[in-house]
Formats: sequence, C-alpha cells, structure tokens
Amino acid sequence: MTAGAPVLTLRGASRVYPSGTRALDRLSLSVVAGEFLTLLGPSGCGKTTLLRLIAGLAEPSDGSVEWSPDGGARRLGFVFQEPTLMPWSRVEDNIRLPLMLAAVSPAESAGRVGEAIAHVGLEGFERAYPRELSGGMKMRVSIARALVTDPQILLMDEPFAALDEITRFKLENDLSSLAQRRRLTVLFVTHSVFESVYLGSRVVVLSPRPGRVAADLRVDGPAPRGEAFRTSAAYLDACRQVSALLALAMEGPLTLSLSPSGGEGTTPTPSPSEGRGQG
Ligand SMILES: Nc1ncnc2c1ncn2[C@@H]1O[C@H](COP(=O)(O)OP(=O)(O)O)[C@@H](O)[C@H]1O
Ligand SMILES: [Mg+2]
Repeated sequence: MTAGAPVLTLRGASRVYPSGTRALDRLSLSVVAGEFLTLLGPSGCGKTTLLRLIAGLAEPSDGSVEWSPDGGARRLGFVFQEPTLMPWSRVEDNIRLPLMLAAVSPAESAGRVGEAIAHVGLEGFERAYPRELSGGMKMRVSIARALVTDPQILLMDEPFAALDEITRFKLENDLSSLAQRRRLTVLFVTHSVFESVYLGSRVVVLSPRPGRVAADLRVDGPAPRGEAFRTSAAYLDACRQVSALLALAMEGPLTLSLSPSGGEGTTPTPSPSEGRGQG
C-alpha cells in the first residue's frame, strides 16, 4: 500500500440504533496509509460505534464506508479496551487464534506468531497463561493477536485506558515504535487529550453525541515518540490546542481547522451555520 493513499473513507456515515439513539451523524473521514490517527471524543460520542462500522460489525444507517481498492479482502486488526484473552490458552495459542480461524498452515502460523511475539516484546512468555501476566503484558498479547494477520489497518479502542500510568507510558512508546517499524496504519480511539497528542500524527476531535468530526489537525513531533517529546514545549502546546478544540466541540456545532504546523494564533473557523444542538 502506498503511503499517503486513503485506506478507507467514511462518507456522511450515520448510525441510528433501533432504540432511536443517533450515535453518529453524517461523519466523513479518510484514513491515510501509514498514519497514526487518534480519534478523541467524550464518552458516549460514538467512538466505538465508528470502529464497529469500520470493522463491518454494524452497518451505517446512512452514508458509506469505502475501502480503497487493494485487491482481496480487507484485513483489519481490532484491539479492545479489555485484552479479552482465552484464559485456558497459552500466550502463543491466544495469538495464533486468528490464523487458525483463517485456516493458515501450522508452519506459516508458527513463523508469524513468533514474529508477533517479538514485536510486542513478549519473548520468553510464549508458554505462559494469561493469569500469569500483568495487565500491560496481557495488552501486549492482545496487540500481537491483532498484528498476526498483518492488518491493513489496526483499530484500537481505548486499549490503555485501564492501565496504570507508568505501564501506559511504556506501552505508548512501544506502540509508537512498532507502528513506525512496521509502517502500520492505526486508528486509535481515546478520551485522553494527552494520549491523543502523544501518539497521533493526526488528531481528529469528535463532537458529543451524535459524533461528527469537529476538528482535524496534524501533530508535528518525532516518529517514533519517546519520553523527550512528553516533556517538550511542542507537546504541551499541542495538548493545549487540542484541549481548546475539544472544549469548543463540547459547546456547539463548530467545524474547526488548524494550520498543519500548529503554532500560536490559530483561528477556529465556524462551519456554515447548521444549527444543530447536542442530542
Ligand atoms: N447496541 C446499542 N444499542 C443502543 N444504543 C447504543 C448501542 N451501542 C451504543 N449505543 C449508544 O450510542 C451512543 C454511542 O455509544 P459508543 O459508540 O459506545 O460511544 P463511545 O465509544 O464514544 O463511548 C451512546 O449513547 C450509547 O449508549
Ligand atoms: Mg467506547
């Protein structure tokens, strides 16, 4: 896949649940190959619903989800907030599961599982059971299981939200390195401003429910990220900007755009008045 080409495009995608809840409203978004896109929004704004539409686990009520023609079936990896491992299976067997479901040969599976284990730094724990692992290690298994199919896009739904801060920082750094090394395309959902800026080469801010794109900005910073970035002025500046955009998004129906280089004096641009209150 060429870097810079759209992997998938949502056009005016809405999702109304049978209960009548409108979770997403005419959301348009392109995910570009090789980018680390973080999706930031308040709880209940439709982030998980959006990932489910992309994964094909639900259909949009209106609009479309289009994959770039890439020949063959789309491949995606999904990492949930909970690691959701099979407690009775060893680390290597948990990671092998998607390959077994896809009837990949044992010989090829062994190579791919070994590679995924190395990528997440779990060498030596292949034969361990989930109960023998810390929360951070279980999440590493979950990430390895998502990577083992070599996905076109990795969907991550608040994967680090339940981890303590020290573990989270370490996993963020390792994920950033992994994404860089394997040239992954990542769509990472979070409700943390700090995490969205730390990980994202691009941050998309969603409005409160029904979710739509309220702001879309590029974050300039080292790739991969490292601890020096976390305490840099550039990082803190970007966090301040994203916090302000999120606060504005919470207030009303504005569409905001920022110059790619960020910096001072950014002017939010109101969209043509659409007079839509929060649902
Ligand atoms: N299966 C469902 N049936 C009805 N309403 C749902 C369902 N799933 C989610 N919702 C509602 O849709 C809205 C968005 O949910 P969700 O996508 O889970 O938000 P987020 O992940 O941003 O917290 C919420 O109001 C939630 O209650
Ligand atoms: Mg969610």
